[in-house]
Amino acid sequence: MSKINIAIDGFSSCGKSTLAKQLAQHIGYVYVDSGAMYRAVTLFAMRNDFFTKMDLNEAQLIASLAQVEVRLAYDSKTQSQITFLNNENVEEEIRKMPVSQRVSQVAVVKEVRERLVFLQQQMALDRGVVMDGRDIGTVVMPDAELKIFMTASPEVRAKRRLDELEAKGDKVSFDEVIENLKHRDHIDQTRAESPLTQADDARVLDNSKITREEQLKLVKSWISLFPS
Ligand code: DC
Repeated sequence: MSKINIAIDGFSSCGKSTLAKQLAQHIGYVYVDSGAMYRAVTLFAMRNDFFTKMDLNEAQLIASLAQVEVRLAYDSKTQSQITFLNNENVEEEIRKMPVSQRVSQVAVVKEVRERLVFLQQQMALDRGVVMDGRDIGTVVMPDAELKIFMTASPEVRAKRRLDELEAKGDKVSFDEVIENLKHRDHIDQTRAESPLTQADDARVLDNSKITREEQLKLVKSWISLFPS
C-alpha cells in the first residue's frame, strides 16, 4: 500500500496520542507528537525565566528562538517517542503540570508556530506519518489523505489526564485538571494564530463512550478505504 499521511486534531486529553501511537505501531508509520514540541519550547522559556509567574515575556522568547533545538526520537526499547530540548531528554518534565499550565501561552506566539510547523512539515515529506496536534489537518498537513477530529466530554478527558498524572506520581486534584483543560480548550479555539478548528474534510471521532479497541478498529476501517 502506498503510504498516506494521517492528521489527528482535537481537544486536549481526547486520547489523540494514544490513538496515533497505536495506529503508527499497527501500520508501521512514524508517530509525531507535535504538542511535545510546544511543550519543549515552554520548558525552555521557563528555564530561562521568560515567565513571571504565569505571564510570558513573548519578546524575550522570540529573541532567543534561534537557541532552541527541539528534536523527536524514537526509543525502540520502550516503543515510545522521546523529546529532546537542546540534546537533553525532557520527555518526563514536559508532561508535568507547570508546563501544561503555561504551554498555551507559548503556542499562541506566531514565531514559535512558524518554526515548529516548518519542522513538522519536514518530518511529513516522505509520507507514512501519523501526526497529532491542533492544526495538523488545517495548517501542517492540509494535504493529509486522512484527517481525524477527535473529541470527548471535558469530564471524560479530565479523568483520563488525572489518571495519567497520578500514575506518574503527580498529586493534583480533579478540579485543577478540569480547569486547566477548559482553559486550554478556550485558548486553543480562540487564539489568532492557527486556532483549533475542524478541517472541512475531517472525520469526527467522539470517543467519550467507546473503548480504545473499538476506536482503533473504526480508524483502521477508514484507512482501508485508501487504494492499496
Ligand atoms: O497535545 P498537548 O496537550 O500535548 O499540547 C500541548 C499544547 O500545545 C496545547 O495547549 C495546544 C498546543 N498545541 C498547538 O497549539 N498546536 C499543536 N499542533 C499541538 C499542540
